[in-house]
Amino acid sequence: MSHYIINGGRRLEGTVRLHGAKNATLPILAAATICGDSVIANCPCLTDVEVALDILRHLGCDARREEDRIITTQTVGGSCVIPDRLMGAMRSSIVFLGAMISRFGCAQVTLPGGCELGSRPIDLHLSALRQMGAEIHEDCGALRCSAPQGLHGADITLSFPSVGATENILIAAAAAKGETILRGAAREPEIGDLIAFLKGCGGDISTDIDGTICIRGVSQLHGTSHRVIPDRIAGGTYLCAGAITNGEVELEEAEAAHLLSTLAWLHNAGCRVNVNGRKVWLRGTPRLRELGMVKTAPYPGFPTDMQAILMAVAAVAQGTTVFVENIFDGRYRHIPELRKLGCDISVQGRVAVVNGGGPLHGAPLRCTDLRGGAAVVLAAMAAEGESQVEGIYHIDRGYECMEQHLAALGGDIIRTGR
Ligand code: EPZ
Repeated sequence: MSHYIINGGRRLEGTVRLHGAKNATLPILAAATICGDSVIANCPCLTDVEVALDILRHLGCDARREEDRIITTQTVGGSCVIPDRLMGAMRSSIVFLGAMISRFGCAQVTLPGGCELGSRPIDLHLSALRQMGAEIHEDCGALRCSAPQGLHGADITLSFPSVGATENILIAAAAAKGETILRGAAREPEIGDLIAFLKGCGGDISTDIDGTICIRGVSQLHGTSHRVIPDRIAGGTYLCAGAITNGEVELEEAEAAHLLSTLAWLHNAGCRVNVNGRKVWLRGTPRLRELGMVKTAPYPGFPTDMQAILMAVAAVAQGTTVFVENIFDGRYRHIPELRKLGCDISVQGRVAVVNGGGPLHGAPLRCTDLRGGAAVVLAAMAAEGESQVEGIYHIDRGYECMEQHLAALGGDIIRTGR
């Protein structure tokens, strides 16, 4: 297993060109299952994306990569069963469910895997698909779904703006018979990107001012050319790498509008930030300030995916910062790892209290999940001495060559082992 060796304490300075968003690419690839031949550009090279391509091929949609483009071509046939090893490899495999029922009239899958962030049920996905005419039987972690008459439109209200459920419904409804009204939908930029892809394929979708989405199903979705939006979480991570090392980082190919809540917190901490078109620049400060209370919330609130990463920054800032994790009930698994570096953090339920400012020192570390792993790496970059970080396959799920970017910024980080 490969791992990182990090010699921390260096100021990170330079430019990072952002890759496309993982969390936009995955649902767009799921949607491609039921659309005509398409070219999807700015797709990041990540293990999760490779899993999605494997699933697509399994479903009878040929998918090949040419640099950052993925070219999808429909073939005849395909299976309506996703093998367990692919379902278990990532949580967003469940976003293929609506597309499969739409394409085959049936689907057989096991419950999805992915980062362990707490309970992560899929009841909202299943309830919505049932309202659209799917019959779903759950048996010991296996799902057998069928819709012999095809899917139809429905009036669906989500009790929580689940990103994945919104995506599943959008894809299923785009080719269903009749109109679907989706209330309480998620509003993340990745949802907007999926809608743009589906509209490019001929989907008839409109969004009201209150966020309600109206999807009028069409009989056939043709292909399109689409460019995936930049990865706002990778962008936020590299800006935090600048902040935590009192460095200076500029993002290229960024969408600043998607980074606003993260930029606001980094500004509050005393960093200078500037936006110039597709460039976002940050300069750190030797005396980062505490952040008060940081609460995660659905977009446009502060993203749960940035919580661990901003916590690493808070650990080197002066004073006390309180985090409240409102999205997932188990997203603090990185905290014991941060403590090994000398971070003073206590946890009770959804609340974590960070007493910052103490010196950090290198330690043997482990990535507990994707963003928790990124937080641990950033803290190790700020700590004096050597750290060894195991479990970096988590990081490869969401960051293209993270160590190369950090090394290009002047960090002393190498990947070693196999
Ligand atoms: C997406 O996960 C992202 N993944 C996550 O990013 C992100 O953390 C999350 O949205 C929240 O922003 C992808 O886009 C591939 P949810 P998803 O459904 O769709 C509960 C990363 O690091 N819920 O919005 O799984 C659920 O348990 C990843 O890149 C139900 O109760 O998130 C959670 O508490 C990790 N029932 C909350 O809603 C359901 O049926 C949010 O989940 C579905 C969700």
